[in-house]
Formats: sequence, C-alpha cells, structure tokens
Amino acid sequence: MGKLDGKVAIITGSTSGMGRATAYLFAKEGAKVVVTGRNEARAKAVVDKIKAEGGEAIYVLADAADSSYAQTIYDQTMEAYGTIDILMNNAGMLSLAQFATITEKEFMDDIYINVTSALMLSQKVAPVMQAKGEGHIINVASIVGWAAHWGFVAYVTSKHAMVGLTKAMANELAPTIHVNGICPGAIKTAMLASVGGEELFQPMIDRACVHRLGEDHEIASVALFLATNDSSFIDGQLLRVDGGIDV
Ligand SMILES: NC(=O)c1ccc[n+]([C@@H]2O[C@H](COP(=O)([O-])OP(=O)(O)OC[C@H]3O[C@@H](n4cnc5c(N)ncnc54)[C@H](OP(=O)(O)O)[C@@H]3O)[C@@H](O)[C@H]2O)c1
Repeated sequence: MGKLDGKVAIITGSTSGMGRATAYLFAKEGAKVVVTGRNEARAKAVVDKIKAEGGEAIYVLADAADSSYAQTIYDQTMEAYGTIDILMNNAGMLSLAQFATITEKEFMDDIYINVTSALMLSQKVAPVMQAKGEGHIINVASIVGWAAHWGFVAYVTSKHAMVGLTKAMANELAPTIHVNGICPGAIKTAMLASVGGEELFQPMIDRACVHRLGEDHEIASVALFLATNDSSFIDGQLLRVDGGIDV
C-alpha cells in the first residue's frame, strides 16, 4: 500500500529536476500524477516512465508566463481525474539579470513565473480541496528566499515572495488545507547546470555542513512528507533542505 494511494497530485515543473523526481516518487506511492511544463517530449517521457512502472499519470502543457496557465492545468486535471488532493508549485526560472541593468519587464516576468502563477493555480485548486475537507499545497521557494548571498535580484525577490505567499496561504486556508514550502539549497538539476554547475556553487557547498550538492530525490522525499498526514501539525513552514547551509 502506497502513502498516496487514490490521491491526485499536480506537480508543476515536473518535466525535469526535482519536480520530475517528485512525480516519480508520488506515482510509486500510488498517486495519479499530473506532470506539467512546456516541453512536450520531456513531459511525455516522464508520463511514459510512470506508466511503464505501473503508475498513473497525464501531462498538461502550460507556460507559467501565460495568464491561461492556471485554468489550463485545472481544467485538464479535473477532466482526467475529477479531483485534486495535492498541489506542488515547483515550476520556476532562474534569471541572471543584475540589479543595475534589469528591466521592468524582465523583473515582472520572473515574479509572474515564480510566484504569481503559483498563486493563480492555488486559487483554482483550493476550492476543490476545501469541498473535500482536506488538501496539501507545497510551494518550492529556495535558500535564496532566506538570504541573498547567491542569488540574482529578481530570483531572490521572487523566492522571498514565495516564502511570504506560503505563510499567507497557510493562514487563509487552515485548517482544511495544509500549505508548506521547501527551500532547497544547491540541487544538481538542469537549472543549476544552466548557471555554471558545481564550480559556481562551490562557495555554497563550502558553507553547507555536508559539503556537497543535493540530489533531486532528496527534495522529493521531503515533498512526500509534506503531502501526507505525516506532517499534520506542520503548517505555514518553509523547510530548508540545503545540507545545513550556514546563512
Ligand atoms: N536546482 C537548484 O539548486 C534549486 C535551488 C533552489 C530552488 N530551486 C527551485 O526548484 C524548482 C525546480 O527547479 P529545478 O532545479 O528542478 O530546475 P529544472 O530541472 O530546470 O526544472 C524546472 C522545471 O520548471 C519548468 N518550468 C520552467 N519555466 C517554466 C515556465 N515558464 N512554465 C512552465 N514550466 C516551467 C520546467 O519545465 P519545461 O522546461 O518543460 O517548461 C521544468 O520542469 C524551481 O522553482 C527552482 O527555482 C532550485
């Protein structure tokens, strides 16, 4: 028997990285998984693997920069499965734009993709969970939602906002829906590779107790904890999963 038998879980940004690792774990634990992202080939590959291993999943293509994002994911999930028990707002982008030169549009695009889209999707999903009498929402922020040492201006701002959004949502949606967040440290994914990989992150690795990068499955296992009643007395919290970084 799986920990998520019969549950329907939307995991945004699950065509890659920690979202994909969470999709695999949730499916293994019995959830029907909704995989989302923009890249159809990667989305299909995730769904195919889940199905090949005996699980159940669909994919929904939706761009978090688009105002139709939340409606698209909501409609296709409800059409396929008729309900929603778990939402993990994980889709995100890392902009390298610097304070001195970032444009208003670049800044607002980052905020929209990393935070606003999560709010809009949660707003659609929450009434379904409220009607059922329970639900779990997990927001993926970052260690740079705590401190600005390693981030760029829009990314740092968006992840601090994700921390605030998590606390505000927990307050409004309790006690029916548990809302918590994860603040990953440096995790070995495509996003990390896109900005220079392990070498660039050496200062962060040096300040972590474990002196290494994290793996995507080390985020997935925490997401599983937050998606079940194993975490029933945890609400509005941001769990730092960063190998013990000294910030
Ligand atoms: N890796 C780290 O060290 C680290 C640390 C702290 C926090 N985080 C956060 O963790 C989350 C997952 O990142 P990751 O490291 O696993 O990165 P990743 O492997 O690059 O995955 C990012 C996921 O987000 C999706 N995505 C990106 N932009 C999107 C958009 N505009 N619309 C819809 N989906 C979009 C991507 O799907 P498509 O490409 O298919 O659109 C992909 O599935 C992000 O929120 C990130 O900020 C990462």
